[in-house]
Amino acid sequence: MLRLVVRRWVVSHRRISQVAAALLCVATVALPASAAAQSQPSRSTLAGVYTAGQATRGQQVFSGVCMGCHTVASYTNATFISNWSGRPLSDLLGFIRNRMPKNDPGSLTVEEYTDVLTYLLKLNAMPAGSEELPADSAAIAAIKIELPSARQTKH
Ligand code: HEC
Repeated sequence: MLRLVVRRWVVSHRRISQVAAALLCVATVALPASAAAQSQPSRSTLAGVYTAGQATRGQQVFSGVCMGCHTVASYTNATFISNWSGRPLSDLLGFIRNRMPKNDPGSLTVEEYTDVLTYLLKLNAMPAGSEELPADSAAIAAIKIELPSARQTKH
């Protein structure tokens, strides 16, 4: 009888450790993604993270969709700079994707949002480079919004 109880305990204990192992497995699989999201941006918007052609496409999106409510100045003034400077570029993209255009949020394609974002970078005198900004949230999360020093002091 005692043996049976012990055996049952061992079986159920084993099952618990199997469940625990499974949970642990899920946790370790989930970990890299969340760790990546939390990791500090490793690139800067001063490093040429978009192309001139991409910003031109972004300007077309801006003229067609955003200009009704925004002037160019609304993306380059002190409020804009203090809101976004030092944050991951993905924060700004997320804001635009989730909240803009204010009258129809989320209505553009991911590419259009990414392009218009590069136009905002251009407006803030961040240099163009040789590779387009990919419409890939992990890559964009790895970029920190940094303004050229001349712009930073222009409050
Ligand atoms: C119908 C009007 C409207 C349109 C169209 C619109 N916006 Fe906005 N936008 C606003 C308002 C109002 C705010 C102020 C914040 C709020 O109310 O959410 C804002 C805020 C913003 C901000 C934050 C500015 C800051 O100083 O931090 C950004 C960036 C932005 N809009 C980008 C865009 C882009 C890009 C588009 C085009 C795809 C766009 N908006 C289209 C009305 C609009």
